[in-house]
Amino acid sequence: MAETKIPFNRPSFVGRELHWVTEAINRGQLSGDGHFTRLCHQQIEAATGAGAALLTHSCTAALEMAALLCDLAPGDEVIMPSFTFVSTANAVVLRGAVPVFVDIDPRSLNIDPARVSAAITPRTRAIFAVHYAGFPADMDALAEIARAHDLMLVEDAAQAYGSTYKGRQAGTLGDMGAFSFHETKNIISGEGGALTLNRPDLVERAEIIREKGTNRSRFLRGQVDKYTWVDLGSSFLPGELIAAFLHGQLEFQDEIRQRRCAQFDHYMAALADLEARGQLRRPVIPEHTTGNGHMFYLLLPDQARRDALIAALRARGIIAPFHYVPLHSAPAGQTYGRTADPLPVTDRTSACLLRLPLFYTLGDDIDAVIAAVHDFFAEAR
Ligand SMILES: Cc1ncc(COP(=O)(O)O)c(C=O)c1O
Repeated sequence: MAETKIPFNRPSFVGRELHWVTEAINRGQLSGDGHFTRLCHQQIEAATGAGAALLTHSCTAALEMAALLCDLAPGDEVIMPSFTFVSTANAVVLRGAVPVFVDIDPRSLNIDPARVSAAITPRTRAIFAVHYAGFPADMDALAEIARAHDLMLVEDAAQAYGSTYKGRQAGTLGDMGAFSFHETKNIISGEGGALTLNRPDLVERAEIIREKGTNRSRFLRGQVDKYTWVDLGSSFLPGELIAAFLHGQLEFQDEIRQRRCAQFDHYMAALADLEARGQLRRPVIPEHTTGNGHMFYLLLPDQARRDALIAALRARGIIAPFHYVPLHSAPAGQTYGRTADPLPVTDRTSACLLRLPLFYTLGDDIDAVIAAVHDFFAEAR
């Protein structure tokens, strides 16, 4: 196996992360909800326009909070794509609810609103939409369905920080949104995430759930003179060192997005000829959306060619992984979830998709990746 020359992702330091971590230590508070957590909340709210943002340990934690805020009960159903990460489904399964997996749109690879409508039953309580590759799902159509059936609409915006739909930011398009700041995302803090709340009536309960079911947030603001256990909850908040690091990244959020979008655009332009010859398909940018340069994927005509391209890139030391194992076909997905219909687009996409390296410090290596993809198809001819 060739030595890795171009990894799939490299966590990138963009500014003053260490400076702010040192300052957090000097300030003497390492637990959560201190100076840097407040700064991050302000930065995320200012950038997205969300009514409120709350830092969490991860997007997984933010989705678990969202499931609690949806008041899911055993046997309730939540409609979601099967083509997503496990956390979308785990969050609802932990509440005893049933993920109902539906197919994706073949162009956007986002949840197909027509399949959502068809999957609604009297037990449906919520729709969890995923913004795949950072491109927002068809949120107007989903909001319409949610309104008509009195459902909660949650955005799994793990990959979509900084993306827009009809001029509005991802994370502000549903009742709630969940972002990831995992080291594979655009803005990173190792592990990390945030829950955005777009309905004022959800904010106080979200603060309580995040603080172990206590009203400690109100106590810290001087709104009550002692705090106590008032609701369900867990410890969903990160410590100040994570928040300080994240603050250093958020300061450069525009630069990060711009650089990643430039890389995305470069891949798009440089691989257009292969698409024109029918050898692969590049991402389709869904109507009314702008992306954040989170991911660049390719769809090959079949799994054999996808696997061969991954192997050819690996032989040159270039790591190009695939994902997701569709949740409806995973052991836990079969135990805890169900499908409304067959999911042919999900199955085909999972078999034919690969992701090319894309990260802040990729630099000129992007041209080596592009050359390797071209060589693969030249040799195959
Ligand atoms: C769609 C989606 N949802 C949720 C997650 C979980 O994010 P985190 O690692 O921050 O918990 C991911 C992570 O890759 C993801 O891609």
